[in-house]
Amino acid sequence: MTTATVTIRAALPGDAVAIARIYNEGIEDRIATFETRLRTPGDIEARIAGGERLLVAERSGAVVGFAGWAPYSDREAYAGVGNYTVYVARGARGARVGSALMREVVAEAETAGLWKLLSIILATNEASIALARRHGFREVGRHRRHGKLDGEWRDAVLVELSLGAAAE
Ligand SMILES: CC(C)(COP(=O)(O)OP(=O)(O)OC[C@H]1O[C@@H](n2cnc3c(N)ncnc32)[C@H](O)[C@@H]1OP(=O)(O)O)[C@@H](O)C(=O)NCCC(=O)NCCS
Repeated sequence: MTTATVTIRAALPGDAVAIARIYNEGIEDRIATFETRLRTPGDIEARIAGGERLLVAERSGAVVGFAGWAPYSDREAYAGVGNYTVYVARGARGARVGSALMREVVAEAETAGLWKLLSIILATNEASIALARRHGFREVGRHRRHGKLDGEWRDAVLVELSLGAAAE
């Protein structure tokens, strides 16, 4: 485990190559997401240009993780609910990079006026469930057969964290 300092900053268009690589590791590992289509840096640039809030974690000058949130729904009534995402490069997992990203995502979401962050996590993704729990998220429940991964039904766990006035 490394002890090098982790810096969290806003993602820039130039980070798209690293973000795509890290996201694709999560896709290839078949642990993080129901998505199976690998992403290109262009896909990530479009997300950043489209206004999605993405943060990156830098360690020793290299991008080793990213996180952010996207709107949960386009309905106005849910404008304060964000769906978060967090990915750490294979070689950097288990070294608190995810925790550093998560802390900043929660702080930024609260400052931006969100009243809730949530995520739907594959039930087998122990690291992601542990990360959510560590940062105060509660498990709302388990979606049975929420989607198929490589043709197999998979369950998913819904987690949420209330923010700001909603947390009082
Ligand atoms: C999930 C992920 C973001 C966690 O980030 P990380 O930097 O590895 O996690 P951290 O080192 O900050 O540890 C966070 C917590 O998870 C626990 N944890 C980490 N890896 C774990 C593992 N493989 N199994 C069980 N718990 C684990 C840690 O012990 C810690 O809990 P604690 O604070 O109660 O001790 C990272 O493992 C990852 O990118 N995985 C692949 C992509 C992914 O699954 N993304 C989430 C999609 S929902």
